Amino acid sequence: MKKILVTGGAGYIGSHTVVALQQAGYQPVIVDNFSNSEESALAGIESILGVKVPTYRIDCGNEAALRGVFEAEKDIKGVIHFAAYKAVGESVAKPLAYFQNNVGSLLTLLAVMPDFGVENLVFSSSCTVYGIPDALPVTEATPTKPASSPYGRTKQMCEEIVHDVSAAPTNKLRTILLRYFNPIGAHESAKIGELPLGVPNNLVPYITQTAAGIREKLTINGSDYETPDGTNVRDYIHVVDLAKAHIVAVQRLLDRKASESVETFNVGTGHGNSVLEVVQAFEKASGQKLNYSIGPRRPGDVPAIYADATKAAQVLGFKTETSLVDSLASSWKWQQTLK
Ligand code: UD1
Repeated sequence: MKKILVTGGAGYIGSHTVVALQQAGYQPVIVDNFSNSEESALAGIESILGVKVPTYRIDCGNEAALRGVFEAEKDIKGVIHFAAYKAVGESVAKPLAYFQNNVGSLLTLLAVMPDFGVENLVFSSSCTVYGIPDALPVTEATPTKPASSPYGRTKQMCEEIVHDVSAAPTNKLRTILLRYFNPIGAHESAKIGELPLGVPNNLVPYITQTAAGIREKLTINGSDYETPDGTNVRDYIHVVDLAKAHIVAVQRLLDRKASESVETFNVGTGHGNSVLEVVQAFEKASGQKLNYSIGPRRPGDVPAIYADATKAAQVLGFKTETSLVDSLASSWKWQQTLK
């Protein structure tokens, strides 16, 4: 079994990817500092897989500790790098922490990997790199625009760092940059899912917590955008579908099929849904009415963005399988286990 190091492997997308890796015949190895994840994710992974996944409780920005993992595991074939802070609002309040953590951990990883002959990297990027796009849907060739937050800027900077490192004459690194759209949902077993700390920033956990009675009501952040119903449009992708994109990407790197040292793919469904449509789909999925009202716009929100998913389909053979309603049903099932 080929070993794949998964930084942030106890997190939301990381935990689903660890499960998918093991099920696809790889040996995942988790590195996580548990700053925004919980032990219970490991128990959930073990319960789904029936085996314990080797886990190192270290900060991936700690070079000595990270070297220790590569030494101990010896034959790591590739890295999927999730470990990063991800809250847009928090990044505005604590920009330095975001640059140190998100950029710093990538730099550490890139410094350590070649010393152990590890040449394959899948990096967690985001549709946030497109800023406010001029035209929809966005393709990988859509020019990036100024990011609306320091969080978004860290993703843009990390992409540029990967390109510069790869352009060096002695470089052997091969990277696939995956630009995720909005991940939602949970594993069908409801043993792993999203675990937001405190009041959720993201739409779907806010919806499920409202339905569960933890929050009084959802406030929709503006209904006066130039979109069909006035609310923001996003591309919501089921986290298990998203996890599968990583398996295909890793396989492509290991098979040496990548056509360039850095390849970039949008990972979305190719469909945009408004906030109101998500609310309606949730009501259908859960069979209950959601308490919500319309509030002001949220600063920094992009009016509308969704993926052109053609490149991932043609080059990676990757297509999403889960509908919005089914994705939300899995979020609701997961929420009910948390009560
Ligand atoms: C943002 C980032 C994304 C990042 C994600 C991580 C952009 C364009 N996107 O996604 O890259 O990975 O955060 O957290 O920067 N909403 C409400 N009420 C709420 C919560 C959300 O109406 O209580 C609306 C938002 O205004 C937005 C939509 O729901 O229109 C989705 O919001 P959210 O889940 O926070 O994700 P993004 O902001 O799209």
